[in-house]
Amino acid sequence: MASKIKVAITGATGRTSCSLVRKILTAKDCFDVPKCLLRSIAKAKEKYEDVWGELEGNCHEVDITADNSTDLMTELFKDCNALVILTSVVVGFKDGRVFFLPDDGTNKGSPELVDWIGQQRQVDAAKRAGVAHIVMVGSMGTTKAAPDEFMGCFKYKRQSEDYLIESGLTYTIVNPCMLVDGEEGTRELVFSKSDKLHFSGSSKEYQVARKTVAEVVFQTLLVPEAKNKAFDLLGRVEIPPTKAVDYVAVFKEMTPGL
Ligand SMILES: NC(=O)c1ccc[n+]([C@@H]2O[C@H](COP(=O)([O-])OP(=O)(O)OC[C@H]3O[C@@H](n4cnc5c(N)ncnc54)[C@H](OP(=O)(O)O)[C@@H]3O)[C@@H](O)[C@H]2O)c1
Repeated sequence: MASKIKVAITGATGRTSCSLVRKILTAKDCFDVPKCLLRSIAKAKEKYEDVWGELEGNCHEVDITADNSTDLMTELFKDCNALVILTSVVVGFKDGRVFFLPDDGTNKGSPELVDWIGQQRQVDAAKRAGVAHIVMVGSMGTTKAAPDEFMGCFKYKRQSEDYLIESGLTYTIVNPCMLVDGEEGTRELVFSKSDKLHFSGSSKEYQVARKTVAEVVFQTLLVPEAKNKAFDLLGRVEIPPTKAVDYVAVFKEMTPGL
């Protein structure tokens, strides 16, 4: 029997990660218990209360912006075949003001530190540790946003995607449109490329559930045709799917590069 996939997931207390981790835990034929990198064990215990018995020994606190994070992650990735990068800036809104958390006057949560430097470190650590496949979840809109939009958030996400491709590692880049909570399978999925489909942050025409993003990432770990591909992922609002997605066919159609 082929050996099981050991996946490291970063940003593992995030909303998409919480679905992905549970999917992996239920696919025991193919996957080992995932290794979860997160900022707070206390938060993880709360979010994963129902599966804590399985996860406990596989949760590790890492702040990707800390100076020692590359070394720490290199050690943690050594027994992993795959890495899913799901860290991202955490955005706050108050009185019409948009900011990145923590909102404490430091730039610790800035897009430059989290979405660029922190993501480079994850790619570097995976390379050093010999990880075979990296799946990065980015965002649609990076080809259209102005360089300083959202404090460079889109610019830095795209830089990280370029960095991953140029690393020479096997990659998959999933760029979803606007994320929403709610159930998967309620919208027809559309796979596209390079912001070819009109997209703006406030667009209500396309939205995708975080649970659906988790399912697509899960499939990229299993289906070899997803390797060295980058694509946009959109859910057509209010058009329920008429049949299941054929992921082998979909990923075969996708092309390498951004
Ligand atoms: N929101 C949208 O509409 C949208 C659209 C397109 C793409 N996306 C992208 O889709 C992905 C998934 O989104 P999501 O909403 O599921 O994410 P999320 O819930 O915001 O999770 C982000 C995770 O990153 C972690 N993180 C932030 N800074 C960190 C640091 N310095 N060290 C370690 N971990 C850190 C957070 O940790 P804590 O749990 O400790 O806070 C959190 O778990 C993200 O990459 C996002 O940018 C979002």
